[in-house]
Amino acid sequence: MKVASVFSSAIALLASTCYAKNIILTNDDGWASTNIRAAYNALTDAGHNVFLVAPASQRSGWGGRYELPDTTTLLTDGEFSYPPAGAPSFSYEPTNDHIWYLNGTPAACVGFALDYVIPRYFPNITIDLVVAGPNEGTNIGSGAYTYSGTIAATYNAVLRGYPGIAFSGSMTNNSFFKDSLNNDTDNPSNILGQKVVQLADVLFTKQGVNSRTLPLSIGLNVNFPNVGTDSSTNCTDPKYVFTRFTGSKETSTFVTYDNATGLLGTTSKYTAPDGNCLNGNCSLTSGTALLASGCYASIDVFSIDYDAPIGIAYETENLFAAALG
Ligand SMILES: *[C@@H]1O[C@H](CO)[C@@H](O)[C@H](O)[C@H]1NC(C)=O
Ligand SMILES: *[C@@H]1O[C@H](CO)[C@@H](O)[C@H](O)[C@H]1NC(C)=O
Ligand SMILES: *[C@@H]1O[C@H](CO)[C@@H](O)[C@H](O)[C@H]1NC(C)=O
Ligand SMILES: *[C@@H]1O[C@H](CO)[C@@H](O)[C@H](O)[C@H]1NC(C)=O
Ligand SMILES: *[C@@H]1O[C@H](CO)[C@@H](O)[C@H](O)[C@H]1NC(C)=O
Ligand SMILES: *[C@@H]1O[C@H](CO)[C@@H](O)[C@H](O)[C@H]1NC(C)=O
Repeated sequence: MKVASVFSSAIALLASTCYAKNIILTNDDGWASTNIRAAYNALTDAGHNVFLVAPASQRSGWGGRYELPDTTTLLTDGEFSYPPAGAPSFSYEPTNDHIWYLNGTPAACVGFALDYVIPRYFPNITIDLVVAGPNEGTNIGSGAYTYSGTIAATYNAVLRGYPGIAFSGSMTNNSFFKDSLNNDTDNPSNILGQKVVQLADVLFTKQGVNSRTLPLSIGLNVNFPNVGTDSSTNCTDPKYVFTRFTGSKETSTFVTYDNATGLLGTTSKYTAPDGNCLNGNCSLTSGTALLASGCYASIDVFSIDYDAPIGIAYETENLFAAALG
């Protein structure tokens, strides 16, 4: 009996040591948004050591732009006046040195976390995973790949050699955690927090003794349907399904012109180019199609290798062969 109990507590210790990972968590909606705080709580409650480092204000749609503050204090209020104008341009919660903001873009937050926060304040920490989101609003398709701050934070992490996962929800309200974060299990932000933990823990379990959770150059882009109190179909635990990043019902941004006002604007339209599947599994459906089909969450596996596949690259090079010698 004694041996068995020592043995099982050793297993428990081993399990908790294996699964306590160091995670950087960022987003583009701001460090004070409900979703990121719910994800922080869920990952921390699951035993992980989380460093939340995110923009001081809303940076949706900033893509991969790398912008740092050029003043030491904020000239304008952060999102939800949290922090207010006059506060430092980067700092942390007075009660928690694991929760930071930076007056910069999501891509810059990843660099700021890796090159300033971690080495300066947590020098012996090795980061296992970088998580972005969950974003307020889905990020599906190639257009989103370039404009989404959430995805851009992720591919910047992957560029630096870290496994990265972008998460996006279907909710659209930009809410302040002090107004909206509760402990209700049917709260959409809390549900997504649990789904983030679930996916991360699958990777950590599979990782075992390997040093990486995902292959080099590879990241994941995850999208959720409406869940919990936002769901009209009582979707509370969407099942993960693999999808294509590109594919049917991909949206692109188009320019509009208003005859009455003379103003230009943008609109999002579906583009469904046929035969554009160059990489990946061409049989998989898109995130848009999957989310429309029921209580599912899509996982796109992407790579940051932008080079064309060798066959089509060769064909393209040959167009120039005679002219360029
Ligand atoms: C980091 O690790 C080094 C070498 O093991 C040790 O000397 C140092 O005290 C550690 N620093 C902190 C802050 O834990
Ligand atoms: C939307 O966000 C605002 C700002 O935080 C908040 O006051 C409001 O309660 C939110 N609404 C919903 C439906 O979550
Ligand atoms: C949620 O639960 C935590 C831990 O149980 C508690 O500290 C916190 O006050 C709760 N938050 C709310 C809004 O009830
Ligand atoms: C919603 O789903 C949950 C979990 O499956 C279940 O416990 C609950 O009864 C369902 N609620 C409704 C209104 O169907
Ligand atoms: C705007 O003006 C153009 C050029 O006259 C016309 O072709 C188009 O139908 C107009 N659009 C609308 C919505 O009225
Ligand atoms: C491609 O996707 C289809 C549809 O989900 C699946 O049946 C097939 O096994 C996948 N092929 C590979 C090589 O992953």
